[in-house]
Amino acid sequence: MCCKCDASFKDLRTQATQQNQTVETELFSCPVCYEPLIRKGPPGLNLDAIYRSGFKCKKCNKSYSSKDVFLDLTVTTGLRNYTEVKPVRTELFRSPLVSFLYERGWRQNFNLSGFPGADEEFRMAQEYFKPAEGGTLVDVSCGSGLFSRKFAKSGTYSGVIALDFSENMLRQCNDFIKQDASLLASNIALVRADVSRLPFSSGSIDAVHAGAALHCWPSPSNAIAEISRILRSGGVFVGSTFLRYTSSTPWIIRPFRERVMQSYNYLTEEEIEEVCTNSGLTNFSKKVQRSFIMFSAQKP
Ligand SMILES: C[S@@+](CC[C@H](N)C(=O)[O-])C[C@H]1O[C@@H](n2cnc3c(N)ncnc32)[C@H](O)[C@@H]1O
Repeated sequence: MCCKCDASFKDLRTQATQQNQTVETELFSCPVCYEPLIRKGPPGLNLDAIYRSGFKCKKCNKSYSSKDVFLDLTVTTGLRNYTEVKPVRTELFRSPLVSFLYERGWRQNFNLSGFPGADEEFRMAQEYFKPAEGGTLVDVSCGSGLFSRKFAKSGTYSGVIALDFSENMLRQCNDFIKQDASLLASNIALVRADVSRLPFSSGSIDAVHAGAALHCWPSPSNAIAEISRILRSGGVFVGSTFLRYTSSTPWIIRPFRERVMQSYNYLTEEEIEEVCTNSGLTNFSKKVQRSFIMFSAQKP
């Protein structure tokens, strides 16, 4: 259901009224001006309701919809002439093959670098998220939804938004959800967005998770500033990534690791803490195992 212009949006509005559907202000905001979107369609944060809804920013007069299995809230949605190409570390994951392979071997390889594995990482994240229980969780850079699905199934949150820039990762996530009836009935939404332009109002989100993602972002500092902006007071950010090196890495090896790892944004523990603190987050805490770090920070 795609509404690209005002005329089709009005049609949608008429249909919504005729079918006794709701017209309400949304959790989602316009990625251009951050004004909450107006939603026309069935209420709820589940795949079907979002697919059947149209969203509009009254300020920018721009419409957004689920033309695919996900709601596209990128700034570039609907553009006809301009195509934006992101850095390789973002573009790689847009490929159908990488998206297909991601949970079929690719992700499991992270264990070789110290990642404890999905079940343990989920358990660790849930510990950090205790102050956000019952709220809305955004799984930023969710990939094919490995953790979004676990968060949704846990019943800990009122809603889970699986968000990624890769269309194919989101399609893969949709395929996994369709195989599980309990997930299909849960409050999970699939949203395409750029981590540097998150489509939520300031202070509106209780929890943000970003598993194995920071090193893939074009600008970790812009991304963490955005995450800090959308978190409510007391809201929690939990991220994991590969470290460039740890305190036990010999000094002689460090310049080599600086050079070979240039294609990704691998940070050190100190840099991650500094970027979080610089974005106004407090209570920084971390767990490190070889190159793996899981960290948490809170919005004061
Ligand atoms: C290594 S995967 C992590 C997937 C999952 N969170 C996990 O823990 O396995 C990194 C993800 O970051 C996403 N990504 C890269 N650049 C992004 C951006 N600018 N905005 C949002 N997501 C981005 C990629 O599409 C990819 O799905």
